Amino acid sequence: MQEGAVVTLSRHIVEQERRHPEATGAFSNILYDIALAAKIISREVNRAGLVDILGSAGKFNIHGEDVRKLDEFADDVIFQAMDHTGNLCVMASEEVDDPIPIPDKFPAGNYVLLHDPLDGSSNIEANVSLGTIFSIHKKISKGERGGLADLLQPGYKQLAAGYIVYGSSTMLVYTTGAGVYGFTLEPSIGEFLLSHPEMKIPDPGKKIYSVNEAYYKRWSPGQQLAVDQLKDEGFSLRYIGSLVADFHRTLLYGGIFMYPADAKSPKGKLRLLYEACPLAMVIEAAGGASSDGAGSILNVEPVELHQRTPLYLGSKSVVQKTEEALQAAGAGVPGA
Ligand code: AHG
Ligand code: MN
Ligand code: MN
Repeated sequence: MQEGAVVTLSRHIVEQERRHPEATGAFSNILYDIALAAKIISREVNRAGLVDILGSAGKFNIHGEDVRKLDEFADDVIFQAMDHTGNLCVMASEEVDDPIPIPDKFPAGNYVLLHDPLDGSSNIEANVSLGTIFSIHKKISKGERGGLADLLQPGYKQLAAGYIVYGSSTMLVYTTGAGVYGFTLEPSIGEFLLSHPEMKIPDPGKKIYSVNEAYYKRWSPGQQLAVDQLKDEGFSLRYIGSLVADFHRTLLYGGIFMYPADAKSPKGKLRLLYEACPLAMVIEAAGGASSDGAGSILNVEPVELHQRTPLYLGSKSVVQKTEEALQAAGAGVPGA
């Protein structure tokens, strides 16, 4: 990209489409629609303290987590942006227990969207960076309307994946597997501009590890060894508690993000299909590695829509050493 060129997301997508003549344009439209939803969510996230949108919506999602109004708002915005376009055959959301069909009044398409509409929601009142995570698959079922089978696809089959981080600036980062592209929202013109072409994770970079160390006593001996080793190697700890924010810093600075299994969450806390898989696709396309402790997240065969997984994402050398420690000292969590 020549110096100083202003490349909007739209122009980038057109250029990418030219490189892939087989692209039908439907996939590009899905990315436009996600970007539109992101702009609307970004505006509300940035105004959250001003509008009576905070506080609990008084509902709880399948995970028993207190659904705050901004979660519901983000979920609604994405649904409204995507349900009528004729590009999707089915959706899934962290906030909705079951598969989300495309309303009969709208045409169905050949793609599948799974998403975490608002990640890090426990931090809403604290004005800490939040995020949206999305995963796009191709429809594999025969009927016109998609269903659970289209949603329960392993990560290596994703067509595209990415996230939006609502931080000091709003960034959209995505990959189709070849290259990771970062766009920063210029609010005054409402455009996402290409600010981080071809993102690559440094290895080991700034030597940062990111985990909620309060759970140390609940970890497996292997997990404890892995973290003890990182400390011995002079790593420093950064933990925001918003997956997207912790991930984005890891992608830019290197190191490792971990949400391991522990005695309280024997399968880990984070969800495979709309948190772990999309971020695993991004980190691996950026030259890093993902793991559930044994191997790449992208190879895990899903069995349930909201299934959880232990999650490691980061610089390849650091993830590998962590896997070795888990295997050497045992990844079994106490009481699991
Ligand atoms: P969500 O807000 O979508 O439910 O995700 C919250 C997750 C994730 O953002 C973060 O990494 C993790 O919760 C933090 O969990 P702990 O508070 O247990 O560390
Ligand atoms: Mn989340
Ligand atoms: Mn969420």
